[in-house]
Amino acid sequence: MRSYDLESLAANDSYKLITGVVQPRPIAWVSTVSASGVRNLAPFSFFTIASRDPVTLFLSIGATGRPGHTVKDTLANVLATGELVVNIVSVPSLGSVVVSSAEVPEHVDEFEYAGLDAVSCQDVAPPRVAQALVAIECRLDQVRRIGTDTAVFARAVRLHAADGVVDAAHHVDSAVLRPVGRTAGATYCADAAVLPSPPVPRWPYPQEVSPA
Ligand SMILES: Cc1cc2nc3c(=O)[nH]c(=O)nc-3n(C[C@H](O)[C@H](O)[C@H](O)COP(=O)(O)O)c2cc1C
Repeated sequence: MRSYDLESLAANDSYKLITGVVQPRPIAWVSTVSASGVRNLAPFSFFTIASRDPVTLFLSIGATGRPGHTVKDTLANVLATGELVVNIVSVPSLGSVVVSSAEVPEHVDEFEYAGLDAVSCQDVAPPRVAQALVAIECRLDQVRRIGTDTAVFARAVRLHAADGVVDAAHHVDSAVLRPVGRTAGATYCADAAVLPSPPVPRWPYPQEVSPA
C-alpha cells in the first residue's frame, strides 16, 4: 500500500486523488434564476443526499476563475433567491450537461445556450429542464463555506418524474432513468451492472432491546 498526506499534497493532486476514488458520483444538473431573472444551468458532481427526512440534498460549489467573479453563478443565484432545481442527468442529456458546464457570462441564458427547453416549476421560480426525466424542486436550507468550496444544503420540496420512471409503490426503474455518474477525471458511467445484495446479518438482540 502507498499512502498520501492529503494535507501536504498540492491541491490539484489531492483533488485528482479524491475525485478519482470517490466515484461514481451522481450529478446534480442545477437550474437557478438570477435576481434579474436570467436562467442558469450547471452540473455539480459533488452531490448527494444530506437527509432523508426532511428530504435534503447536498452539493458543493467551488471557486470560479472567471474574470471579475468570486463565486459561480449557481451559488450567487441560490444565495440571492433561495431556490434551485436539481435535474437528474440521464444518458441522452450528457452532451447538453457538458455544454451547460461552460463558464459563460452571467447574462447568458444557459437553457438557450445548451439548446434545452424549460418547463415552469410549481413551488419555486427556477424552471426545470424539459429533457430531464426527473427534476427536484428545492429551497435553500443552509450554506457552509469549507475552504475553497461552499457546501449547499437544499430542502427538496417536490419531485417530478416522467412516465415510466416511478411505479405505484414509488420504486424507481433505473433502466428507464439511466442515470449518469461522474468517474475519475472527465469520464462518465451509466447502465452499471446491477448486483443483488448479499444477505444482511441480523444481530441477535434480546426481544426487549430495540435497536437505535
Ligand atoms: C459533470 C460535471 C460535474 C461538475 N461538478 C462540479 C462540482 O461538483 N462543483 C463545482 O464547483 N463545479 C463542478 N463542475 C463545473 C461547473 O459545472 C462549472 O464551473 C460551471 O460553469 C458553473 O456554472 P455557473 O457559473 O453557471 O454556476 C462540474 C462540471 C461537470 C461537467
